[in-house]
Amino acid sequence: MQKDIVLSVKGVTKSFGGLKALSKINLGIGKGEIYGLIGPNGAGKTTLFNILTGIYTPNQGTFNLDGKDLAGLKPHLIVKAGLARTFQNIRLFGNMSGLENVMVGFHVRTKTGVMGAVFRHYRAREEETNLRNKSKSLMDYVGLDPELTQPSTTLPYGDQRRLEIARALATNPKVIALDEPAAGMNPTETAGLRDLLVRIRRDGITILLIEHDVKLVMGLCDTVAVLDYGKKIAEGEPKEIKANPDVIQAYLGGELS
Ligand SMILES: Nc1ncnc2c1ncn2[C@@H]1O[C@H](COP(=O)(O)OP(=O)(O)O)[C@@H](O)[C@H]1O
Ligand SMILES: [Mg+2]
Repeated sequence: MQKDIVLSVKGVTKSFGGLKALSKINLGIGKGEIYGLIGPNGAGKTTLFNILTGIYTPNQGTFNLDGKDLAGLKPHLIVKAGLARTFQNIRLFGNMSGLENVMVGFHVRTKTGVMGAVFRHYRAREEETNLRNKSKSLMDYVGLDPELTQPSTTLPYGDQRRLEIARALATNPKVIALDEPAAGMNPTETAGLRDLLVRIRRDGITILLIEHDVKLVMGLCDTVAVLDYGKKIAEGEPKEIKANPDVIQAYLGGELS
């Protein structure tokens, strides 16, 4: 069956000095799917996310979201176009509460700019209340207590990861790209994350997922692509990927069984 592609990556290549971190990567992420991106450490997964979110510029290649070419755009414009992300090394606004972090996500799309914030006129205040309520709902959605006031970086690790997801969702993305969201989570937290990702997909958001927990990836993803030394060595349904000799070779058998 032909997929309705929402995020298309074509021929993306990225070198760091003499190291080719990514070589002619092509991906087609279907609307509404959970698309897994796996591969050994150093395979180029995070580099690809950094390109897709405007942190790095590719040496070659393009990518587009719903037909809009995004290559070369600054990160905030990519978020505005509908591609949000979380980070392998969590990046929260450390001194702010969880709720405030989520509110920052919403600001990408609010009309009241700096002037509004300065004058605090009626509309700005109304918008702020509205935003606070929407942020509380999102905290609730990812399973966090909206009333928590402690600095976000003092939250347990798993909560910080879910908070990053809430902040990304606040930007109203078409596609959310998650870089190892289960890293540092215990089995209970991982099970909760799994449920959250299923809910996000059900609510119509496409998920691009980098994850080391192969069991989670294989159980959750509709499609999986495998990177190894900057090259895509396989793409398909989980059961095809698990049986692919090149993939087994790249993982030395262990993690896939
Ligand atoms: N900013 C950078 N400068 C130099 N080398 C980098 C940079 N970012 C990533 N790399 C290198 O690119 C390769 C791919 O890294 P990365 O994308 O982080 O892999 P993965 O996320 O799959 O573990 C690695 O060899 C890494 O050392
Ligand atoms: Mg990485």
